This record gives sequence, structure tokens and C-alpha cells, in this order.
Amino acid sequence: MESFERFGLMINDKVVKTPIALAAMAGMVDAGYVLARADHIGAAFIGGYSIDEPTMAASRAIAAAGERREFLYDDPVAELSAQLRKMKGSDVVPGVNLRGSSPASFLAIAEALGDAVIYEIDAHCRQAPLVGAGCGEYYLHNLKELAAVVRALKSADVTVSVKIRAGIAADDRVLAKKLWGAGADILHVDLMDFGSAKLRQIRNSCPLMLIANNSINSFDVMKEMFSHGADLVSLARKSDIRTLAGLDAAITRYTDDQGWYNSPKQLCRGGDVRALTFCCMPVKDCPIIPTLKRIGISKEEFQEIKTDAAKGTLLERGQHTCFGSLVWCCKTSSPCVFRDMTIQQEGLTGKEYMRLKRELSGAIMDRVFYDKPHDDAG
Ligand SMILES: Cc1cc2nc3c(=O)[nH]c(=O)nc-3n(C[C@H](O)[C@H](O)[C@H](O)COP(=O)(O)O)c2cc1C
Ligand code: SF4
Ligand code: SF4
Repeated sequence: MESFERFGLMINDKVVKTPIALAAMAGMVDAGYVLARADHIGAAFIGGYSIDEPTMAASRAIAAAGERREFLYDDPVAELSAQLRKMKGSDVVPGVNLRGSSPASFLAIAEALGDAVIYEIDAHCRQAPLVGAGCGEYYLHNLKELAAVVRALKSADVTVSVKIRAGIAADDRVLAKKLWGAGADILHVDLMDFGSAKLRQIRNSCPLMLIANNSINSFDVMKEMFSHGADLVSLARKSDIRTLAGLDAAITRYTDDQGWYNSPKQLCRGGDVRALTFCCMPVKDCPIIPTLKRIGISKEEFQEIKTDAAKGTLLERGQHTCFGSLVWCCKTSSPCVFRDMTIQQEGLTGKEYMRLKRELSGAIMDRVFYDKPHDDAG
């Protein structure tokens, strides 16, 4: 419960105790690998596991070539069940990273393993035999097929993550919208060299839970990802206990001090759409104007959304602030005596103020992403 109060993260009815995940590495990340790191991670994607004849043959070919490791077995359901059984007593939310060549292959696995697991579609792998078998990066060039896999998994009512590499699909914003429309729950993004600007672009395109990945090995990089839209970060190559423990301790300390672990930067400092929670009343010519235009919300509507969402909360107070209420006030990292005086007078702490801003941001996001895109692949 303490972790839920701190980070507010839950997947499959299980609290995610820290916003750090293990990303899949074929032939390496299995239950044993996860359990050795369980104290410092909130979720883990074991695998990748190939789940049908074409992808299992591709895995055998990759392993035989001798350059990369693969998990090899005859019966994927038996192997995955055995791995998940080993993780059963752990408080890490389990996920399986799967390589399959048809919607039916994914559905069969979900029906066999049940709904306590996150099903992650590997649309990331670029090994030629796997791409040739119609999975991994193949899906990023064939979005209708990818959406069909998402829909098949959702027909089993399970949580679906899609692991992608940024910059491969023709437009990552369209990809994000399409996956949202098809019913995906999580987008796990290997950002490659694109960094936080790409993450912000994806955050501004869909309301899915976002896991940022690639070289997120220090607190500074992790914070950069959180302040541009990540809900979790994940590590693969540098997922040693020392690195994970350091990141976990740092984000816990930061959150206990600041209140909102993934608070966005202010909009005018490059923040994502969640940053509207910190925006002033839209009365001047500044980045809020094009942002509201892009998301199709008028200034008047925006004013109404914020004031309605803050009704009955202490954010309504603050007659000595610029716009007469804390609803329009900035992030605590921007120094301001008027805001801080109000916070103090109302018996709030800076941390509690940030938590209220987080709730307000959630209400704004609900409104911005109210209309789910039409799923045109069916
Ligand atoms: C040896 C190795 C195997 C990998 N296997 C998979 C895989 O099976 N499925 C997948 O989605 N990503 C796979 N990845 C990609 C990682 O999950 C991750 O996206 C990538 O390494 C970048 O993150 P990092 O900088 O934390 O390592 C693999 C990476 C490595 C190095
Ligand atoms: S409304 Fe205020 S916080 Fe938002 S972009 Fe404009 S100046 Fe920045
Ligand atoms: S009172 Fe301070 S925190 Fe509030 S809007 Fe004005 S400058 Fe920002």
C-alpha cells in the first residue's frame, strides 16, 4: 500500500512497487533472472519467447548461428507456465515478451496462461529469421496485422503491451493511436537515439501507459523520461542489481520529497500534454495556445475543465496568486512566494500540492483523450 500511495501504479490488480521494469533479453531474462533482481523492480518482461512453429524455427536458426542466445524448447506453454510458476510468490508484476506469427498463436498462449500476466507483443526484434517469420519488426511495417494481434489478445480480456522500436514505423504518432484504438494497454518504447522528444510526441498522441526504454541507466536520464511522459522506465543490458537498486532508491527518495514521481516539465519548458495542469489561465500568447488548438479544446473549455476538476479541492484557494486560484499555479520547482504562501496558509505541503496537481492532470488527460480513435482494421 505504501508503494501505491507513492507511485499510484497498478497493473493486473497488483501494485507496481517501483516504476522500474526489466526489459526482455532473449536467452537471458527468465524467472531466475527476475527473482535475483526482485527487490528493485516493479515489473518484468521475461523472454522473448517464440510461440509457434515459424518463430520457434527462427529461434533455432538464430541460436544455431551462434551469435545470439535464444530460449529453446518444444512446448512454449509448458515452458512459460514453468517460468511463471517460479515467479508466483514474488511481488514483481509478471510480463511475457512473445514472438508469434499470427493472432491465433498469441490468443492460444493467453488462453493457456490466464489474465495475471502482461502479454507483450515483440514488435521490436530485428533479427532476420524472426522478421522473416512475420514477427518482431515485421509488425511495425504491417500495422493492420499488429492491430489484429492486439485485438486477438484483448478478446481474452488480458493486459496487452506492445514493444516497439521508435523511428521504424512510418509515423510513431499514428502507430500509438492505432494501438490505442485496437485496445492495447501499454506501449513499451525503445527510444533508440531519439530521446525524450520522441517520448513526448508519443505521450501527446495516446493515453496508454508508457514504458520508456534504452540506456536509461542513471537517475538523470530516468527523470528526463519521467518528466516527458513515461509511467515506467525499463532496463535490459544494464539491469545489474547495483544499477537497479540505485535507480529504485533515487526515485523513491525523489518522490517522497516532491510528491509526483513523473511530474511533467512546464509546457513552455518542453513539457508534454499533462503539463496543462501547471498552465496559467490562457490569456497570453504562449505555447498553451497552439497546444489547445492541436488537441481541439477551446480556451473557454480548458478553463471549465480545470475549474470543474478542482471543485471542492484546496486548489480552489489562493486569491493572492496570479489568477486567483492554485488551479492556475506552476510547478513547485518554479519558485513563487505567492503560491507557497497559499500552500502554507491552507495547511498543505508542497508534496500534497503536487499530488493534487497530479489528480488534476489525470482529469485533463481524460478529457483530452476522451474519444478513442476508430479501429479501422477489423
Ligand atoms: C541480448 C539482447 C536480447 C534482446 N532480446 C529481446 C527480445 O527478445 N524481445 C524484445 O522485445 N527486446 C529484446 N531486446 C531489447 C531490449 O529489451 C531493450 O529494448 C534494448 O536492449 C535497449 O534497452 P537497454 O539500453 O536497457 O539495453 C534484447 C536486447 C539484447 C541486448
Ligand atoms: S500558460 Fe503559463 S505555464 Fe502554460 S505555456 Fe503559457 S506561460 Fe507556460
Ligand atoms: S502565483 Fe506564482 S505559481 Fe501561481 S501562477 Fe503566479 S507565478 Fe505561477
